[in-house]
Amino acid sequence: MKNLGRKASLPVLAAVAATAVLGVVFAQVAGAHTAGTPLIGSVAAGKTLFKAQGCGKCHTLAAAKSTGTIGPNLNKIKPSQALVAKQVTTGGGFMPSFGGTLKKAQIDDIAAYVYSSTH
Ligand code: HEC
Repeated sequence: MKNLGRKASLPVLAAVAATAVLGVVFAQVAGAHTAGTPLIGSVAAGKTLFKAQGCGKCHTLAAAKSTGTIGPNLNKIKPSQALVAKQVTTGGGFMPSFGGTLKKAQIDDIAAYVYSSTH
């Protein structure tokens, strides 16, 4: 009987876990950038950096007229500014890291540009 009880609770646990994960993801998306919050960094400088750093070779971004397909389409994933900054800084998943070549302020500029041109 003890065994049965344990089996029955597994799907419940899985559902609770899935809900928790979804909640976190939703909270991140919803709280990523509320309207009116000023962007960190310069959109104009970010536009230049996006081209210079070759982001468009791997990413599609309509504002930059880039059509790369190695990485996700930025117009589709509409990343938060924080997500762009994190990904550019650390790289990962076949994307190079720019944390060693760009200053934090430059990464913020790129993130401001990607955010503002996808939202
Ligand atoms: C050599 C190809 C390449 C270059 C250059 C590149 N990326 Fe990426 N990028 C990728 C790949 C591949 C992924 C998917 C990584 C993954 O699935 O974990 C990615 C993911 C991302 C993501 C999404 C991260 C996430 O968690 O969803 C963002 C935002 C991003 N890149 C922005 C940029 C910006 C901005 C630049 C320029 C500074 C850049 N990338 C340069 C290949 C590249």
